Amino acid sequence: MAAAPLPSPSLAMAPAEAAPAVEILGVDKVFADGTRGLTPIDLTVAQGEFVSLIGPSGCGKSTLLSLIANLIQPTDGRLLWWRGGFDKVGQPGRRLSIVFQDATLMPWARVEGNVRLPLDLARMPKDEAAPRVDEALALVGLSSHGRLYPRQLSGGMRMRVSIARALVTEPDMLLMDEPFGALDEFTRNRLDSDLSELWRLRGFTTIFVTHSIYEAVFLSTRIVVMAAQPGRLFREIEIDEPFPRGDAFRTSAKFADYCRELSVALMEASLASGRGRDR
Ligand SMILES: Nc1ncnc2c1ncn2[C@@H]1O[C@H](COP(=O)(O)OP(=O)(O)O)[C@@H](O)[C@H]1O
Ligand SMILES: [Mg+2]
Repeated sequence: MAAAPLPSPSLAMAPAEAAPAVEILGVDKVFADGTRGLTPIDLTVAQGEFVSLIGPSGCGKSTLLSLIANLIQPTDGRLLWWRGGFDKVGQPGRRLSIVFQDATLMPWARVEGNVRLPLDLARMPKDEAAPRVDEALALVGLSSHGRLYPRQLSGGMRMRVSIARALVTEPDMLLMDEPFGALDEFTRNRLDSDLSELWRLRGFTTIFVTHSIYEAVFLSTRIVVMAAQPGRLFREIEIDEPFPRGDAFRTSAKFADYCRELSVALMEASLASGRGRDR
């Protein structure tokens, strides 16, 4: 199948022009047990951006993702989700998908059944769902694996199934929480390259949590570095490199420079963690 041609996100996301996908306005989160997950943060992610969140454990990356997914509610502040570039809406709706570190597949169902799950939940008739499932499997390079069971797949392939399941609803926003963290580096690089290409062709806004400096630099249009105790935004780094990005970028001096800059920012975020907002 051929992906519909879309404008290059790197062009579409010029900050002054791109409409927001989500606006996070003075949002903080205190959990029921009194733990402060996040101090008030402001962040706008534009449509078509690929934003990575990186920072020490406990800095609120997953909390922020859960807020954006509308899985939890802010203690204070508010979030605005935009759709189609025009309408401001109070909730993200169905065009948002999440991928976690664990592929969370149903072991008793075939790959195609796992990918079809969101469509089944939406009560889409099977004959209507089937071509969508085929397309999603093709997108992640698993066209010939639909009849297999999860246990017959490698870790990388299971994660591809999880991504296909996220894409089968044709989301305009994809949230990923350390999706490739459990994979070996070679597999992770392959998945990063494929995800980057999918994102470029499809244009969905992506918010991606990672611990990997290399992965963040390779994938992102912008990296948000966070600090912990209390969880907060610490620094932003724009990655000014056109797409598609390939191995030539991975091995370039510019890539190494960005990695060094991010590495220093992370060290500073780590030192600032536990010392409040003003340090
Ligand atoms: N449901 C919860 N109840 C209480 N505290 C929580 C809950 N979820 C997360 N936290 C706390 O909020 C902080 C941020 O957690 P989290 O967002 O998971 O960080 P990260 O994903 O960056 O490691 C941590 O101190 C964590 O222990
Ligand atoms: Mg987390």
